[in-house]
Amino acid sequence: MEKEKFYITTPIYYPSDKLHIGHSYCTVATDTMARYKRLRGYDVMFLTGTDEHGQKIERIADSQNMTPKEYTDKIVTGIKELWNKLGISYDKFIRTTDDYHIACVQKIFKKLYDQGDIYKSSYEGWYCTPCESFFTEHQLVDGKCPDCGRDVELLKEESYFFRLSKYQDRIIQYMEDNKDFLQPNTRQNEMINNFLKPGLEDLAVSRTSFKWGIPVDFDLNHVVYVWVDALTNYISALGYGTEDESLFRKYWPADVHVVGKEIVRFHSIIWPAMLIALDLPLPKKIFGHGWLVINGGKMSKSVGNVVDPNVLVDKYGVDAIRYFLLREIAFGQDGNFSNEALIQRINSDLANDLGNLVSRTAGMIEKYFGGTLPKDRTETPFDADLKATVAEIIPKVEEKMDNMFFSDALIEIWNLIRRTNKYIDETQPWILCKDEEKKGELANALYHVAESIRIVSIMIKPFMPNTPEKIWASFGIKEGEATTWESTKTWGILPAELKAVKGETLFPRIDMKKELAELEAAIKASQATNIANQQKKKEEKEDEYPAEITIDDFCKVQLKVGEVLESKEVEGSTKLLRNVVKLGEEERVIFSGIKSAYAPGELVGKRVVVAYNLKPRKMMGEMSYGMILCAEDAEGKLSVLTTDDKEFKSGSGIS
Ligand code: MSP
Repeated sequence: MEKEKFYITTPIYYPSDKLHIGHSYCTVATDTMARYKRLRGYDVMFLTGTDEHGQKIERIADSQNMTPKEYTDKIVTGIKELWNKLGISYDKFIRTTDDYHIACVQKIFKKLYDQGDIYKSSYEGWYCTPCESFFTEHQLVDGKCPDCGRDVELLKEESYFFRLSKYQDRIIQYMEDNKDFLQPNTRQNEMINNFLKPGLEDLAVSRTSFKWGIPVDFDLNHVVYVWVDALTNYISALGYGTEDESLFRKYWPADVHVVGKEIVRFHSIIWPAMLIALDLPLPKKIFGHGWLVINGGKMSKSVGNVVDPNVLVDKYGVDAIRYFLLREIAFGQDGNFSNEALIQRINSDLANDLGNLVSRTAGMIEKYFGGTLPKDRTETPFDADLKATVAEIIPKVEEKMDNMFFSDALIEIWNLIRRTNKYIDETQPWILCKDEEKKGELANALYHVAESIRIVSIMIKPFMPNTPEKIWASFGIKEGEATTWESTKTWGILPAELKAVKGETLFPRIDMKKELAELEAAIKASQATNIANQQKKKEEKEDEYPAEITIDDFCKVQLKVGEVLESKEVEGSTKLLRNVVKLGEEERVIFSGIKSAYAPGELVGKRVVVAYNLKPRKMMGEMSYGMILCAEDAEGKLSVLTTDDKEFKSGSGIS
């Protein structure tokens, strides 16, 4: 019988010299799903790769005196090494600089142009280069990128546009007809209410102000917008638009695109619109996972808090890291990374629950039976309940895995591990061994535990690719009939005269205090190198482009002293305070991103400096008139600028 296909993808990564544990999280999760589906008998296609074009890459390469391709070649090697280290079993690695991909993007662009879905006009608006995203004025937050909070650039250039607006209703319809299209479900409402229903604008899909992109082949001044280029990878990798479309016909539509929550928008709006325009089926599911955060903030190279997966894998092994990532954080939600939580999980779940179970069982078979269980066994009163637990847990694990609820699946598997440990306590082999007449019960108890371990070893395989083999080696199990997923549903597959040897310790226990100190030092050393490299690059850049303005430019900014009358929290915002500021006779509402530094009310009575003639803009549904000036240090700490005289008259000008 032909196998059912399963096509799963990760986002393609921007080539960065330091992919951190947050990036690894996304890839490990996708890999776990791919491995699970293979184990369930699917014909899996797992795609990952790199997203190599765009202004951001061009600038980084330039700052390192390399061509963009030289730069990406170097980085891609490192990324592949990291994925190998993490046991990522991708079937195809695509680079957007690959010839077949370039040809596919050009073909699609031309087709959309020929059929009138792409037209030429000019673009004026804001662009965030790190996110490679366009924004309208009202989408900015405090004049910065709403996604990453960094500076945006004003763009004014001739551009091709994609008629995104034309597809809005069809996308809404698709989402309404396919309630599970976006996972977790809340993301679907967010997209419909925040983006689709307010109305889509046509999308600028070409750039002329830099060169590092796929050329629009019928208008060589333009390169294709990097997101249109990148999204196309999901079909170009399958040979779409080439002479041989067999893979495309076999695997498309994708069963799931796994993406981080901040790029769900591109995958659930732009990508479906492109596919509808190309008359192709839409992906079945998009899973928007949460972020791995550190002390509540996103792990990011620019903040300097990234954790290097190499350090962790070298210290604890790949299986422990993969387990931690998928057990600790509910897939779909944000989760905090901490060294303490990692060591805690290794000690309790891996060393104690699983590792001990395996070693003490093999040890008892060695000790009580010289390493081989006898054939003759007598039932114990506890067998039925253990078997019932196994039978109950398997469908639950399947259901959780099918929905990509990895941590829930692991909780179920660990329920079985703990139940098996409890069974040992119930049957008390150390007492049974003392009575010759109880040898049959003793053999039976150890057989049951071993059989339960066999079932556990299969269920953990998608998460921990190396541990099952080690367990099997202890019980003489060969990969084959006794290790298939289906075999978990049959009790008693292990041979009656089971042989066991106590193998190496699967997960050595860790001394928490000592280890925390060592690990923090290793991570800090890797972060310090990162920050130093970045600082160096920043300084080089500043030397190159001194940002000077004339006195006339400066005089355009009208600054005034304001007295803060009110400073309150804003519902739904983690950054903003809503201030009412008195400027002479006038009172203004000014939103300010200073919540990290000032408690609500703390600024009341203070004289602050206000940028007075700034164009008002809507923030959190209300207009904000001006800006309160703030100092910000290298760690992101904020302090508002005030007048030396604490009673200084509000409304006074500043010169
Ligand atoms: N190149 C685009 C994707 C194009 S797909 C057609 C991109 N690349 S990225 O390198 O910035 O991010 C790749 C993935 O890593 C994204 O899904 C992103 O959400 C994920 N992560 C980056 N930092 C992360 C965390 N701290 N935590 C979890 N995932 C994170 O976006």
